Amino acid sequence: MKQGFEKYIPFAPIPRPKRAWPDKRLEKAPVWCSVDLRDGHQALVDPMNVEEKLELFHTLVDIGVKEIEVGFPSASEVEYDFLRTLIDDGHVPDDVTLQVLVQARPHLIKRTFEAIEGAKHVIFHFYNSTSTLQRKVVFHTDVEGVKKIAVDAAEMIYEMAQPVIASGMDLRYEYSPESFMGTEMDAAAEICAAVLDALHADAEHKVILNLPTTVENCLPNYFADEIEYFIEKLPGRERAIISLHPHNDRGEGVATAELAMLAGGERVEATLFGNGERTGNVDMVTIAMNLYTQGVDPELDFSHINHIRDVYERCTKMKVGPRQPYVGELVFTAFSGSHQDAISKGVQFAKEHGGEYWEIPYLPIDPADLGREYEPIVRINSQSGKGGAAFVMQQNFGYDIPKAMQPEFGHIVQVETEKAGTELAPQRIFELFKESYIDAIFPYQLLKHTFVETVDAEAKSHVRFTGTLRHTDTVFDVVGEGNGPIDAFFNAIHGQKMDRFTFVDYAEHAINKGSDSMAVAYIHLKDADGKDIFGVGIDHNINLAPLRGILSAINRTWLARHQK
Ligand code: KIV
Ligand code: ZN
Repeated sequence: MKQGFEKYIPFAPIPRPKRAWPDKRLEKAPVWCSVDLRDGHQALVDPMNVEEKLELFHTLVDIGVKEIEVGFPSASEVEYDFLRTLIDDGHVPDDVTLQVLVQARPHLIKRTFEAIEGAKHVIFHFYNSTSTLQRKVVFHTDVEGVKKIAVDAAEMIYEMAQPVIASGMDLRYEYSPESFMGTEMDAAAEICAAVLDALHADAEHKVILNLPTTVENCLPNYFADEIEYFIEKLPGRERAIISLHPHNDRGEGVATAELAMLAGGERVEATLFGNGERTGNVDMVTIAMNLYTQGVDPELDFSHINHIRDVYERCTKMKVGPRQPYVGELVFTAFSGSHQDAISKGVQFAKEHGGEYWEIPYLPIDPADLGREYEPIVRINSQSGKGGAAFVMQQNFGYDIPKAMQPEFGHIVQVETEKAGTELAPQRIFELFKESYIDAIFPYQLLKHTFVETVDAEAKSHVRFTGTLRHTDTVFDVVGEGNGPIDAFFNAIHGQKMDRFTFVDYAEHAINKGSDSMAVAYIHLKDADGKDIFGVGIDHNINLAPLRGILSAINRTWLARHQK
Protein backbone atom coordinates (compact mmCIF):
# COMPACT_ATOMS: atom_id res chain seq x y z
CA MET A 1 0.00 0.00 0.00
CA LYS A 2 2.91 2.36 0.58
CA GLN A 3 3.84 2.66 -3.10
CA GLY A 4 0.71 1.68 -4.99
CA PHE A 5 -1.16 4.97 -4.78
CA GLU A 6 1.37 6.65 -7.02
CA LYS A 7 0.03 4.89 -10.09
CA TYR A 8 -3.36 6.63 -9.85
CA ILE A 9 -4.18 9.87 -11.63
CA PRO A 10 -6.06 12.27 -9.38
CA PHE A 11 -9.25 13.72 -10.79
CA ALA A 12 -8.73 17.19 -12.25
CA PRO A 13 -11.64 19.40 -11.18
CA ILE A 14 -12.88 21.92 -13.72
CA PRO A 15 -12.08 25.48 -12.66
CA ARG A 16 -15.23 27.14 -11.29
CA PRO A 17 -14.55 30.71 -10.17
CA LYS A 18 -18.27 30.92 -9.31
CA ARG A 19 -20.63 28.13 -8.49
CA ALA A 20 -24.29 28.54 -7.55
CA TRP A 21 -25.26 25.04 -6.42
CA PRO A 22 -23.88 25.16 -2.84
CA ASP A 23 -26.48 27.78 -1.92
CA LYS A 24 -29.42 25.87 -3.39
CA ARG A 25 -31.80 23.61 -1.48
CA LEU A 26 -33.49 20.37 -2.42
CA GLU A 27 -37.15 21.29 -2.26
CA LYS A 28 -38.82 18.81 -4.55
CA ALA A 29 -38.47 15.22 -5.63
CA PRO A 30 -36.68 14.49 -8.89
CA VAL A 31 -38.34 12.49 -11.65
CA TRP A 32 -37.48 8.94 -10.66
CA CYS A 33 -36.44 6.24 -13.05
CA SER A 34 -35.76 2.74 -11.82
CA VAL A 35 -32.97 0.84 -13.55
CA ASP A 36 -33.41 -2.25 -11.34
CA LEU A 37 -34.52 -4.40 -14.22
CA ARG A 38 -31.65 -3.34 -16.47
CA ASP A 39 -28.49 -2.03 -14.75
CA GLY A 40 -29.42 -3.84 -11.53
CA HIS A 41 -30.36 -7.00 -13.36
CA GLN A 42 -27.28 -7.17 -15.56
CA ALA A 43 -25.11 -7.17 -12.43
CA LEU A 44 -26.73 -10.15 -10.70
CA VAL A 45 -24.86 -13.36 -10.01
CA ASP A 46 -28.13 -15.25 -10.64
CA PRO A 47 -30.18 -13.29 -13.15
CA MET A 48 -33.92 -13.13 -12.48
CA ASN A 49 -36.42 -15.31 -14.30
CA VAL A 50 -39.57 -13.81 -15.85
CA GLU A 51 -41.69 -14.34 -12.70
CA GLU A 52 -39.10 -12.64 -10.53
CA LYS A 53 -38.76 -9.72 -12.93
CA LEU A 54 -42.52 -9.34 -13.02
CA GLU A 55 -42.74 -9.33 -9.24
CA LEU A 56 -40.03 -6.67 -9.01
CA PHE A 57 -41.70 -4.65 -11.78
CA HIS A 58 -45.03 -4.64 -9.92
CA THR A 59 -43.28 -3.74 -6.67
CA LEU A 60 -41.68 -0.72 -8.39
CA VAL A 61 -45.09 0.27 -9.73
CA ASP A 62 -46.57 -0.01 -6.22
CA ILE A 63 -43.78 2.19 -4.85
CA GLY A 64 -44.88 4.82 -7.34
CA VAL A 65 -42.03 4.77 -9.87
CA LYS A 66 -43.40 6.09 -13.15
CA GLU A 67 -40.42 5.47 -15.43
CA ILE A 68 -38.95 1.97 -15.39
CA GLU A 69 -36.06 0.79 -17.54
CA VAL A 70 -37.03 -2.80 -18.22
CA GLY A 71 -34.06 -4.09 -20.11
CA PHE A 72 -31.96 -4.28 -23.18
CA PRO A 73 -34.43 -6.01 -25.55
CA SER A 74 -32.00 -6.20 -28.46
CA ALA A 75 -29.36 -7.92 -26.35
CA SER A 76 -30.99 -11.33 -25.89
CA GLU A 77 -34.16 -13.32 -26.47
CA VAL A 78 -34.83 -13.41 -22.73
CA GLU A 79 -34.77 -9.61 -22.50
CA TYR A 80 -36.91 -9.31 -25.62
CA ASP A 81 -39.45 -11.83 -24.35
CA PHE A 82 -39.73 -10.12 -20.97
CA LEU A 83 -40.61 -6.83 -22.62
CA ARG A 84 -43.18 -8.59 -24.81
CA THR A 85 -44.72 -10.24 -21.72
CA LEU A 86 -45.04 -6.84 -20.04
CA ILE A 87 -46.78 -5.35 -23.08
CA ASP A 88 -48.82 -8.32 -24.33
CA ASP A 89 -50.08 -9.46 -20.93
CA GLY A 90 -51.10 -5.95 -19.87
CA HIS A 91 -48.76 -5.53 -16.91
CA VAL A 92 -48.06 -1.84 -17.51
CA PRO A 93 -50.40 0.72 -15.92
CA ASP A 94 -51.36 3.66 -18.12
CA ASP A 95 -49.34 6.13 -16.09
CA VAL A 96 -46.10 4.12 -16.26
CA THR A 97 -43.53 4.56 -19.02
CA LEU A 98 -41.35 1.67 -20.13
CA GLN A 99 -37.76 2.61 -20.81
CA VAL A 100 -35.63 0.44 -23.11
CA LEU A 101 -31.89 0.71 -23.54
CA VAL A 102 -29.93 0.20 -26.72
CA GLN A 103 -26.40 0.85 -27.90
CA ALA A 104 -26.04 3.42 -30.67
CA ARG A 105 -25.85 0.71 -33.35
CA PRO A 106 -28.24 0.37 -36.29
CA HIS A 107 -29.21 -3.33 -36.11
CA LEU A 108 -29.82 -3.11 -32.36
CA ILE A 109 -31.93 0.01 -32.79
CA LYS A 110 -34.12 -1.78 -35.36
CA ARG A 111 -34.61 -4.76 -33.06
CA THR A 112 -35.53 -2.44 -30.19
CA PHE A 113 -38.25 -0.77 -32.28
CA GLU A 114 -39.71 -4.24 -32.95
CA ALA A 115 -39.63 -5.02 -29.23
CA ILE A 116 -41.64 -1.96 -28.14
CA GLU A 117 -44.53 -2.47 -30.55
CA GLY A 118 -47.86 -1.98 -28.83
CA ALA A 119 -46.53 -0.17 -25.75
CA LYS A 120 -48.34 3.04 -24.75
CA HIS A 121 -45.51 5.11 -23.27
CA VAL A 122 -41.87 4.48 -24.11
CA ILE A 123 -38.54 6.16 -23.44
CA PHE A 124 -36.15 5.07 -26.15
CA HIS A 125 -32.75 5.26 -24.44
CA PHE A 126 -29.58 5.03 -26.52
CA TYR A 127 -25.98 5.52 -25.52
CA ASN A 128 -22.38 5.47 -26.58
CA SER A 129 -19.27 6.09 -24.56
CA THR A 130 -17.66 9.50 -24.89
CA SER A 131 -14.90 9.58 -22.25
CA THR A 132 -11.28 10.44 -22.95
CA LEU A 133 -10.19 7.05 -21.65
CA GLN A 134 -12.66 5.00 -23.69
CA ARG A 135 -11.90 7.00 -26.83
CA LYS A 136 -8.23 6.17 -26.28
CA VAL A 137 -8.30 2.52 -25.24
CA VAL A 138 -11.58 1.14 -26.63
CA PHE A 139 -12.70 3.09 -29.70
CA HIS A 140 -9.43 4.61 -30.95
CA THR A 141 -11.26 7.70 -32.05
CA ASP A 142 -11.59 11.38 -31.20
CA VAL A 143 -14.51 13.57 -30.05
CA GLU A 144 -15.75 13.90 -33.63
CA GLY A 145 -15.77 10.11 -33.92
CA VAL A 146 -17.96 9.54 -30.86
CA LYS A 147 -20.15 12.51 -31.77
CA LYS A 148 -20.78 10.93 -35.18
CA ILE A 149 -21.81 7.61 -33.57
CA ALA A 150 -24.28 9.48 -31.35
CA VAL A 151 -25.70 11.71 -34.08
CA ASP A 152 -26.06 8.87 -36.62
CA ALA A 153 -27.97 6.86 -34.06
CA ALA A 154 -30.11 9.87 -33.11
CA GLU A 155 -31.03 10.50 -36.75
CA MET A 156 -31.94 6.88 -37.33
CA ILE A 157 -34.02 6.72 -34.15
CA TYR A 158 -35.81 9.96 -35.01
CA GLU A 159 -36.70 8.66 -38.44
CA MET A 160 -37.88 5.27 -37.22
CA ALA A 161 -39.88 6.88 -34.43
CA GLN A 162 -42.05 9.08 -36.65
CA PRO A 163 -44.47 6.38 -37.91
CA VAL A 164 -44.57 4.83 -34.46
CA ILE A 165 -45.51 8.18 -32.88
CA ALA A 166 -48.02 8.80 -35.66
CA SER A 167 -49.66 5.46 -34.85
CA GLY A 168 -50.31 6.69 -31.32
CA MET A 169 -47.35 5.67 -29.17
CA ASP A 170 -46.14 8.28 -26.70
CA LEU A 171 -42.44 7.88 -27.47
CA ARG A 172 -39.71 10.04 -25.97
CA TYR A 173 -35.94 9.94 -26.39
CA GLU A 174 -33.10 9.61 -23.93
CA TYR A 175 -29.42 9.89 -24.75
CA SER A 176 -26.55 8.94 -22.42
CA PRO A 177 -23.00 10.02 -23.11
CA GLU A 178 -21.74 6.94 -21.27
CA SER A 179 -18.76 7.68 -18.98
CA PHE A 180 -19.87 11.33 -18.98
CA MET A 181 -17.87 11.94 -15.78
CA GLY A 182 -14.64 11.20 -17.65
CA THR A 183 -15.52 13.27 -20.71
CA GLU A 184 -14.24 16.81 -21.25
CA MET A 185 -17.27 18.92 -20.34
CA ASP A 186 -17.08 21.11 -23.45
CA ALA A 187 -17.02 17.98 -25.61
CA ALA A 188 -19.94 16.45 -23.68
CA ALA A 189 -22.01 19.61 -24.20
CA GLU A 190 -21.11 19.68 -27.89
CA ILE A 191 -22.04 16.01 -28.42
CA CYS A 192 -25.31 16.34 -26.48
CA ALA A 193 -26.29 19.51 -28.35
CA ALA A 194 -25.75 17.70 -31.65
CA VAL A 195 -27.95 14.84 -30.43
CA LEU A 196 -30.68 17.32 -29.38
CA ASP A 197 -30.54 18.83 -32.86
CA ALA A 198 -30.78 15.42 -34.53
CA LEU A 199 -33.81 14.56 -32.40
CA HIS A 200 -35.50 17.92 -33.17
CA ALA A 201 -35.72 18.64 -29.45
CA ASP A 202 -37.46 21.81 -28.27
CA ALA A 203 -39.12 23.01 -25.07
CA GLU A 204 -42.30 21.08 -25.96
CA HIS A 205 -40.42 17.95 -27.01
CA LYS A 206 -37.70 17.67 -24.44
CA VAL A 207 -35.09 14.97 -24.70
CA ILE A 208 -33.68 13.33 -21.58
CA LEU A 209 -29.92 13.82 -21.37
CA ASN A 210 -28.74 11.23 -18.91
CA LEU A 211 -25.33 12.07 -17.44
CA PRO A 212 -23.76 9.04 -15.77
CA THR A 213 -20.92 8.59 -13.40
CA THR A 214 -20.54 5.24 -15.11
CA VAL A 215 -17.59 4.81 -12.77
CA GLU A 216 -17.57 7.16 -9.80
CA ASN A 217 -14.16 8.81 -9.98
CA CYS A 218 -14.30 12.05 -8.03
CA LEU A 219 -15.68 13.85 -5.03
CA PRO A 220 -19.42 14.62 -5.26
CA ASN A 221 -18.74 18.39 -5.29
CA TYR A 222 -16.52 18.06 -8.35
CA PHE A 223 -19.27 16.15 -10.14
CA ALA A 224 -21.78 18.84 -9.17
CA ASP A 225 -19.41 21.39 -10.72
CA GLU A 226 -19.36 19.31 -13.90
CA ILE A 227 -23.16 19.22 -14.05
CA GLU A 228 -23.51 22.95 -13.44
CA TYR A 229 -20.85 23.71 -16.02
CA PHE A 230 -22.36 21.30 -18.58
CA ILE A 231 -25.79 22.92 -18.22
CA GLU A 232 -24.30 26.40 -18.69
CA LYS A 233 -22.48 25.25 -21.83
CA LEU A 234 -25.36 23.29 -23.38
CA PRO A 235 -26.92 25.27 -26.22
CA GLY A 236 -30.70 25.31 -25.80
CA ARG A 237 -30.77 23.91 -22.28
CA GLU A 238 -34.58 24.24 -22.22
CA ARG A 239 -34.75 21.40 -24.78
CA ALA A 240 -33.38 18.89 -22.26
CA ILE A 241 -34.33 17.15 -19.06
CA ILE A 242 -31.09 16.71 -17.12
CA SER A 243 -30.96 13.20 -15.73
CA LEU A 244 -28.37 11.72 -13.36
CA HIS A 245 -27.16 8.15 -13.33
CA PRO A 246 -24.67 7.80 -10.49
CA HIS A 247 -22.78 4.63 -9.70
CA ASN A 248 -21.18 4.12 -6.32
CA ASP A 249 -17.53 3.13 -6.77
CA ARG A 250 -16.29 5.51 -4.07
CA GLY A 251 -19.31 4.86 -1.86
CA GLU A 252 -20.49 8.42 -2.56
CA GLY A 253 -23.29 7.72 -5.03
CA VAL A 254 -26.02 9.25 -2.87
CA ALA A 255 -23.98 12.40 -2.15
CA THR A 256 -23.12 12.65 -5.83
CA ALA A 257 -26.79 12.46 -6.79
CA GLU A 258 -27.81 14.97 -4.14
CA LEU A 259 -25.18 17.59 -4.99
CA ALA A 260 -25.78 17.09 -8.72
CA MET A 261 -29.50 17.67 -8.09
CA LEU A 262 -28.54 20.98 -6.49
CA ALA A 263 -26.48 21.69 -9.59
CA GLY A 264 -29.46 21.20 -11.90
CA GLY A 265 -30.20 17.46 -12.16
CA GLU A 266 -33.97 17.02 -12.51
CA ARG A 267 -34.23 13.28 -12.86
CA VAL A 268 -32.44 10.38 -11.15
CA GLU A 269 -31.88 6.87 -12.42
CA ALA A 270 -31.42 4.59 -9.44
CA THR A 271 -32.09 1.14 -8.02
CA LEU A 272 -33.63 -0.23 -4.85
CA PHE A 273 -30.97 -0.57 -2.16
CA GLY A 274 -28.25 0.39 -4.66
CA ASN A 275 -28.04 -2.84 -6.62
CA GLY A 276 -26.10 -2.54 -9.89
CA GLU A 277 -22.76 -3.05 -11.58
CA ARG A 278 -19.77 -3.40 -9.19
CA THR A 279 -20.57 -1.28 -6.11
CA GLY A 280 -23.98 -0.64 -7.56
CA ASN A 281 -26.13 2.14 -8.90
CA VAL A 282 -27.18 4.89 -6.56
CA ASP A 283 -29.75 3.81 -3.95
CA MET A 284 -33.21 5.19 -4.67
CA VAL A 285 -34.47 4.48 -1.15
CA THR A 286 -31.76 6.51 0.55
CA ILE A 287 -32.15 9.54 -1.71
CA ALA A 288 -35.93 9.43 -1.35
CA MET A 289 -35.89 9.03 2.42
CA ASN A 290 -33.19 11.69 2.80
CA LEU A 291 -35.61 14.09 1.09
CA TYR A 292 -38.44 12.86 3.32
CA THR A 293 -36.51 13.54 6.53
CA GLN A 294 -35.88 17.08 5.29
CA GLY A 295 -39.61 17.65 5.01
CA VAL A 296 -39.81 17.06 1.24
CA ASP A 297 -42.33 14.65 -0.30
CA PRO A 298 -40.24 12.08 -2.22
CA GLU A 299 -43.30 11.03 -4.24
CA LEU A 300 -42.42 7.40 -3.63
CA ASP A 301 -44.00 5.11 -1.08
CA PHE A 302 -41.62 3.24 1.18
CA SER A 303 -44.09 2.82 4.02
CA HIS A 304 -43.71 -0.96 3.88
CA ILE A 305 -39.95 -1.12 3.50
CA ASN A 306 -39.52 -4.59 5.03
CA HIS A 307 -41.86 -6.04 2.43
CA ILE A 308 -39.95 -4.28 -0.37
CA ARG A 309 -36.68 -5.61 1.04
CA ASP A 310 -38.12 -9.15 1.17
CA VAL A 311 -39.25 -8.99 -2.47
CA TYR A 312 -35.90 -7.53 -3.51
CA GLU A 313 -33.89 -10.18 -1.65
CA ARG A 314 -36.05 -13.01 -2.95
CA CYS A 315 -35.98 -11.84 -6.58
CA THR A 316 -32.37 -10.71 -6.87
CA LYS A 317 -30.86 -13.15 -4.34
CA MET A 318 -28.92 -10.18 -3.02
CA LYS A 319 -28.74 -9.30 0.66
CA VAL A 320 -29.48 -5.96 2.26
CA GLY A 321 -26.81 -5.22 4.85
CA PRO A 322 -27.79 -4.71 8.49
CA ARG A 323 -26.49 -1.12 8.43
CA GLN A 324 -28.05 -0.08 5.11
CA PRO A 325 -29.77 3.29 5.70
CA TYR A 326 -33.50 3.14 6.46
CA VAL A 327 -33.88 -0.59 5.77
CA GLY A 328 -31.02 -2.48 7.47
CA GLU A 329 -31.94 -4.68 10.40
CA LEU A 330 -29.93 -2.61 12.88
CA VAL A 331 -30.49 0.95 11.71
CA PHE A 332 -33.12 1.80 14.31
CA THR A 333 -31.45 -0.06 17.13
CA ALA A 334 -29.43 1.52 19.90
CA PHE A 335 -27.09 -0.63 21.96
CA SER A 336 -25.23 2.16 23.70
CA GLY A 337 -26.51 3.07 27.14
CA SER A 338 -26.40 6.83 26.59
CA HIS A 339 -28.21 6.53 23.26
CA GLN A 340 -30.88 4.32 24.82
CA ASP A 341 -31.33 6.75 27.63
CA ALA A 342 -31.73 9.71 25.25
CA ILE A 343 -34.15 7.78 23.02
CA SER A 344 -36.29 6.75 25.93
CA LYS A 345 -36.34 10.34 27.25
CA GLY A 346 -37.20 11.59 23.77
CA VAL A 347 -40.08 9.11 23.49
CA GLN A 348 -41.32 10.14 26.94
CA PHE A 349 -41.00 13.85 26.09
CA ALA A 350 -42.97 13.35 22.88
CA LYS A 351 -45.69 11.45 24.81
CA GLU A 352 -45.99 14.24 27.36
CA HIS A 353 -45.69 17.25 25.06
CA GLY A 354 -47.02 15.98 21.74
CA GLY A 355 -45.75 18.37 19.11
CA GLU A 356 -45.94 18.57 15.38
CA TYR A 357 -42.41 17.44 14.60
CA TRP A 358 -40.35 14.30 15.02
CA GLU A 359 -37.64 15.09 17.56
CA ILE A 360 -36.17 11.92 19.02
CA PRO A 361 -32.41 11.84 19.61
CA TYR A 362 -30.54 9.23 17.57
CA LEU A 363 -33.59 8.49 15.42
CA PRO A 364 -33.54 10.70 12.32
CA ILE A 365 -36.81 9.17 11.13
CA ASP A 366 -39.85 7.64 12.80
CA PRO A 367 -39.42 3.89 12.10
CA ALA A 368 -43.22 3.68 11.88
CA ASP A 369 -43.13 5.79 8.70
CA LEU A 370 -41.32 2.89 7.06
CA GLY A 371 -43.67 0.34 8.61
CA ARG A 372 -40.99 -0.66 11.10
CA GLU A 373 -42.81 0.20 14.33
CA TYR A 374 -42.68 -3.29 15.82
CA GLU A 375 -38.93 -3.64 15.71
CA PRO A 376 -36.83 -3.22 18.82
CA ILE A 377 -35.32 0.25 18.97
CA VAL A 378 -33.37 -0.70 22.04
CA ARG A 379 -31.38 -3.90 22.17
CA ILE A 380 -29.30 -4.99 25.07
CA ASN A 381 -25.65 -6.00 25.10
CA SER A 382 -22.77 -5.26 27.47
CA GLN A 383 -22.59 -1.67 26.16
CA SER A 384 -26.13 -0.90 27.23
CA GLY A 385 -27.02 1.19 30.23
CA LYS A 386 -29.45 1.02 33.08
CA GLY A 387 -32.29 2.66 31.13
CA GLY A 388 -32.09 0.16 28.27
CA ALA A 389 -33.32 -2.86 30.18
CA ALA A 390 -36.14 -0.77 31.69
CA PHE A 391 -37.08 0.43 28.19
CA VAL A 392 -37.27 -3.17 26.94
CA MET A 393 -39.41 -4.14 29.96
CA GLN A 394 -41.71 -1.22 29.21
CA GLN A 395 -41.96 -1.60 25.42
CA ASN A 396 -42.12 -5.39 25.26
CA PHE A 397 -43.86 -6.43 28.47
CA GLY A 398 -45.62 -3.34 29.84
CA TYR A 399 -43.63 -3.09 33.12
CA ASP A 400 -42.91 0.51 34.22
CA ILE A 401 -39.89 -0.04 36.43
CA PRO A 402 -39.52 3.03 38.68
CA LYS A 403 -36.48 5.26 38.09
CA ALA A 404 -34.91 4.49 41.48
CA MET A 405 -34.96 0.76 40.75
CA GLN A 406 -33.60 0.94 37.20
CA PRO A 407 -29.87 1.04 38.08
CA GLU A 408 -30.19 -2.12 40.16
CA PHE A 409 -32.03 -4.05 37.44
CA GLY A 410 -29.69 -2.60 34.78
CA HIS A 411 -26.76 -3.98 36.76
CA ILE A 412 -28.35 -7.44 36.97
CA VAL A 413 -28.82 -7.39 33.17
CA GLN A 414 -25.31 -6.11 32.52
CA VAL A 415 -23.72 -8.89 34.59
CA GLU A 416 -25.67 -11.37 32.46
CA THR A 417 -24.64 -9.75 29.14
CA GLU A 418 -21.00 -9.91 30.18
CA LYS A 419 -21.43 -13.55 31.11
CA ALA A 420 -23.22 -14.30 27.83
CA GLY A 421 -20.79 -12.23 25.73
CA THR A 422 -23.62 -11.36 23.37
CA GLU A 423 -26.92 -9.58 23.05
CA LEU A 424 -29.78 -10.56 25.38
CA ALA A 425 -33.16 -11.13 23.78
CA PRO A 426 -36.13 -9.32 25.40
CA GLN A 427 -37.46 -12.65 26.67
CA ARG A 428 -34.20 -13.30 28.56
CA ILE A 429 -34.41 -9.82 30.09
CA PHE A 430 -37.90 -10.62 31.26
CA GLU A 431 -36.70 -13.93 32.72
CA LEU A 432 -33.98 -12.10 34.64
CA PHE A 433 -36.57 -9.71 36.02
CA LYS A 434 -38.80 -12.58 37.05
CA GLU A 435 -35.99 -14.65 38.56
CA SER A 436 -34.56 -11.67 40.46
CA TYR A 437 -37.74 -10.14 41.86
CA ILE A 438 -40.99 -11.98 41.27
CA ASP A 439 -39.58 -15.41 42.09
CA ALA A 440 -37.93 -14.19 45.32
CA ILE A 441 -40.44 -16.15 47.46
CA PHE A 442 -38.03 -17.77 49.89
CA PRO A 443 -37.55 -17.88 52.87
CA TYR A 444 -40.54 -15.66 53.79
CA GLN A 445 -43.94 -16.58 52.41
CA LEU A 446 -47.40 -15.26 53.15
CA LEU A 447 -49.66 -18.28 53.69
CA LYS A 448 -52.94 -16.60 54.51
CA HIS A 449 -54.22 -13.24 55.58
CA THR A 450 -57.22 -10.99 56.20
CA PHE A 451 -57.64 -7.24 56.02
CA VAL A 452 -60.32 -5.49 58.02
CA GLU A 453 -60.92 -1.92 57.05
CA THR A 454 -62.84 0.59 59.18
CA VAL A 455 -63.56 4.15 58.25
CA ASP A 456 -64.01 6.58 61.18
CA ALA A 457 -66.30 9.59 61.55
CA GLU A 458 -63.66 11.81 59.89
CA ALA A 459 -63.55 9.49 56.85
CA LYS A 460 -60.10 8.20 57.87
CA SER A 461 -59.37 4.63 56.97
CA HIS A 462 -57.90 2.13 59.50
CA VAL A 463 -56.74 -1.23 58.28
CA ARG A 464 -56.02 -4.24 60.46
CA PHE A 465 -53.91 -6.96 58.91
CA THR A 466 -53.86 -10.50 60.31
CA GLY A 467 -51.72 -13.05 58.57
CA THR A 468 -49.78 -16.27 58.75
CA LEU A 469 -46.24 -16.33 57.43
CA ARG A 470 -43.74 -19.08 56.92
CA HIS A 471 -40.01 -18.67 57.38
CA THR A 472 -38.31 -21.83 56.06
CA ASP A 473 -40.05 -24.45 58.28
CA THR A 474 -41.42 -22.11 60.93
CA VAL A 475 -44.96 -20.85 60.64
CA PHE A 476 -45.99 -17.80 62.68
CA ASP A 477 -48.81 -15.30 62.93
CA VAL A 478 -48.53 -11.54 62.67
CA VAL A 479 -50.92 -8.69 63.31
CA GLY A 480 -50.58 -5.03 62.50
CA GLU A 481 -52.54 -1.87 61.97
CA GLY A 482 -52.12 1.10 59.76
CA ASN A 483 -53.77 3.66 57.57
CA GLY A 484 -53.74 1.33 54.56
CA PRO A 485 -52.91 -2.26 53.61
CA ILE A 486 -49.18 -1.63 53.10
CA ASP A 487 -48.82 0.30 56.32
CA ALA A 488 -50.73 -2.39 58.27
CA PHE A 489 -48.67 -5.22 56.79
CA PHE A 490 -45.41 -3.41 57.31
CA ASN A 491 -46.27 -2.76 60.93
CA ALA A 492 -47.28 -6.40 61.31
CA ILE A 493 -43.93 -7.76 60.16
CA HIS A 494 -41.84 -5.09 61.80
CA GLY A 495 -39.83 -6.47 64.68
CA GLN A 496 -40.73 -10.01 63.93
CA LYS A 497 -37.98 -12.41 63.07
CA MET A 498 -37.31 -10.28 60.00
CA ASP A 499 -34.66 -7.61 59.87
CA ARG A 500 -35.55 -4.03 60.43
CA PHE A 501 -36.48 -2.31 57.20
CA THR A 502 -37.73 1.17 56.49
CA PHE A 503 -40.38 1.65 53.88
CA VAL A 504 -39.33 4.26 51.27
CA ASP A 505 -41.70 4.14 48.36
CA TYR A 506 -43.92 2.02 46.20
CA ALA A 507 -45.47 2.18 42.75
CA GLU A 508 -48.16 0.01 41.28
CA HIS A 509 -49.81 -0.43 37.90
CA ALA A 510 -51.89 -2.94 35.99
CA ILE A 511 -50.51 -5.26 33.35
CA ASN A 512 -52.47 -7.42 31.00
CA LYS A 513 -51.51 -11.06 30.87
CA GLY A 514 -53.64 -12.57 28.14
CA SER A 515 -57.24 -11.84 29.06
CA ASP A 516 -56.20 -11.39 32.72
CA SER A 517 -55.38 -8.09 34.33
CA MET A 518 -52.82 -8.27 37.13
CA ALA A 519 -51.39 -5.67 39.48
CA VAL A 520 -47.63 -5.28 39.70
CA ALA A 521 -46.15 -3.46 42.67
CA TYR A 522 -42.59 -2.18 42.98
CA ILE A 523 -41.39 -1.78 46.54
CA HIS A 524 -38.47 0.31 47.70
CA LEU A 525 -37.15 -0.31 51.23
CA LYS A 526 -33.98 0.56 53.10
CA ASP A 527 -32.24 -1.96 55.33
CA ALA A 528 -30.73 -1.24 58.74
CA ASP A 529 -27.54 0.05 57.07
CA GLY A 530 -29.49 2.48 54.88
CA LYS A 531 -28.97 0.39 51.75
CA ASP A 532 -31.69 0.55 49.09
CA ILE A 533 -33.49 -2.69 48.41
CA PHE A 534 -36.22 -3.40 45.91
CA GLY A 535 -38.88 -6.02 45.51
CA VAL A 536 -41.65 -6.75 43.05
CA GLY A 537 -44.96 -8.46 43.68
CA ILE A 538 -47.66 -9.53 41.27
CA ASP A 539 -51.19 -10.53 42.08
CA HIS A 540 -54.75 -10.26 40.80
CA ASN A 541 -55.56 -8.43 44.02
CA ILE A 542 -54.20 -4.88 44.10
CA ASN A 543 -53.88 -5.04 47.93
CA LEU A 544 -51.89 -8.23 47.82
CA ALA A 545 -49.37 -7.28 45.08
CA PRO A 546 -47.51 -4.76 47.34
CA LEU A 547 -47.33 -7.29 50.20
CA ARG A 548 -45.71 -9.77 47.84
CA GLY A 549 -43.39 -6.95 46.77
CA ILE A 550 -42.32 -6.26 50.37
CA LEU A 551 -41.62 -9.95 50.95
CA SER A 552 -39.72 -10.06 47.64
CA ALA A 553 -37.47 -7.21 48.82
CA ILE A 554 -36.88 -8.85 52.20
CA ASN A 555 -36.24 -12.27 50.67
CA ARG A 556 -33.77 -10.78 48.19
CA THR A 557 -31.81 -9.23 51.07
CA TRP A 558 -31.84 -12.52 52.96
CA LEU A 559 -30.74 -14.43 49.85
CA ALA A 560 -27.97 -11.93 49.11
CA ARG A 561 -26.60 -12.35 52.63
CA HIS A 562 -26.86 -16.11 52.68
CA GLN A 563 -25.42 -16.62 49.24
CA LYS A 564 -22.22 -14.72 50.07
O1 KIV B 1 -23.63 3.54 -16.13
C1 KIV B 1 -23.89 3.88 -17.29
O2 KIV B 1 -23.23 4.73 -17.91
C2 KIV B 1 -25.01 3.23 -17.93
C3 KIV B 1 -25.46 3.80 -19.21
C4 KIV B 1 -25.82 2.76 -20.18
C5 KIV B 1 -26.56 4.77 -18.96
O3 KIV B 1 -25.60 2.34 -17.36
ZN1 ZN C 1 -25.18 2.38 -15.22
